[in-house]
Amino acid sequence: MPESVTITDNRTGESVEVPLVNGGIDAKAWKRLLPGIWMLDPGFSITASAESAITELDGGNGILRYRGYPIEELAEHSTFLEVCYLLLNGELPGETQFDSWVHDITHHTFIHENMRRRFYEGFHYDAHPMGMMVSAIAGLSTFYPEAKNIDDRDNRFIQINRLISKVPTLAAMAYRTSVGMPFVYPDNTLSYTENFLSMMWRIAEPNYEADPVLAKALDVLLILHADHEQNCSTTAMRVVGSAHADPFSAAAGATAALYGPRHGGANEAVIHMLNEIGSYDNIPAFIESVKAGEGRLMGFGHRVYKAYDPRARIVKNHADEVFKVTGRNPLLDIALKLEEIALSDDYFKSRNLYPNVDFYTGLIYQAMNFPMDMFTVLFTMGRMPGWLSHWNEAIEQESRISRPRQVYVGPAERSYVPIGQR
Ligand code: SDX
Repeated sequence: MPESVTITDNRTGESVEVPLVNGGIDAKAWKRLLPGIWMLDPGFSITASAESAITELDGGNGILRYRGYPIEELAEHSTFLEVCYLLLNGELPGETQFDSWVHDITHHTFIHENMRRRFYEGFHYDAHPMGMMVSAIAGLSTFYPEAKNIDDRDNRFIQINRLISKVPTLAAMAYRTSVGMPFVYPDNTLSYTENFLSMMWRIAEPNYEADPVLAKALDVLLILHADHEQNCSTTAMRVVGSAHADPFSAAAGATAALYGPRHGGANEAVIHMLNEIGSYDNIPAFIESVKAGEGRLMGFGHRVYKAYDPRARIVKNHADEVFKVTGRNPLLDIALKLEEIALSDDYFKSRNLYPNVDFYTGLIYQAMNFPMDMFTVLFTMGRMPGWLSHWNEAIEQESRISRPRQVYVGPAERSYVPIGQR
């Protein structure tokens, strides 16, 4: 059987045979056969926008691999910075390569004093940290004008290094601004997550001692969020990057997309939902309200996974480790009961709705004392290497500017009518 499909235009009887390659077919084949006819797919539910070698998802079987390595193995054996290297370079680093990479990331955590002093002070006291992150990441581009030189690979990787190094600093500053606390400078003697926790929580002590269990749990959570193929925010990164904008501006666009409650904002929305449910007794009524279309079960459902999100399983397993240190999050019991009921209810089963990565992460973040409006900021930190890997891959593929067509459904041509005659 040929690995191909044949498309026939019944108006003319003409056909074209199109090979099936890597699970895709080249849409340009339609162009030859059907000029001026567009494949309409709002939300890209069955459209591939790119060829990519970075992350592989098998939604039916709940499989996630970064550069071929199963997420379960990376979560158990790797570190976030090693995963960043893997996503960006395609291979796990050797010892020398890794040491050099960690040194570079560790020694680029500072940001320009103008950002630190003036930029953040311009925000209102109750500014949402994600609004600050979108602005701050875009603002960084003004300090590195050479970042526009995207054709030079070495220069690209200098900017990539800056973004991965500086995002924790920007994130902690967003938090410290929101609580009116003085900023804490990066401590380059600490690991990536320990340094972030120090910038978040240090008060007056000379050095901050992060709990190793919490630092490790956060490292694993960052690994789990590092990439996820062509999700909404990564698509935004590739689209903005396709215009040859600098990586800071493209990352700001991706951060803005992640902010949405349908995407990265869901981890915050889950906690709001659990708080609203409030107790076991209210769960059945809440489930019925969702089934009646009065809202969504946040943290459930996924465009790709039609099985349990493998990340949600890993997060759930790590929750117990964290709670041994922080104390059990009382909302966990409601979340577990909600999952148990939803997974046995036909409404959710028939729609393949399972917990996604956001269903349990918020419970861990909350137990670690992160305020809810910081949850998506943590997602931003985790996803940055994924965004940058896709941005770099698209440039190396010499991708064309993203410019989809449309199916026009508006009015036919008509003439202007002066206002007095309308
Ligand atoms: C992330 O793409 C990625 O990879 C994203 C992500 C990543 O790592 O980058 O995995 C991170 O964004 C995870 C998703 C976080 N979002 C949420 O948890 C918000 C709640 N979930 C949804 O709103 C929804 O499930 C989406 C947005 C995640 C997916 O939406 P789709 O694929 O467009 O599905 P849909 O809206 O077309 O829904 C299909 C059906 C509908 O019912 P019917 O119209 O067929 O009757 O399923 C229902 C929906 O009403 N449905 C839900 C539901 N999600 C879908 N019903 C109740 N609760 C839900 N959560």
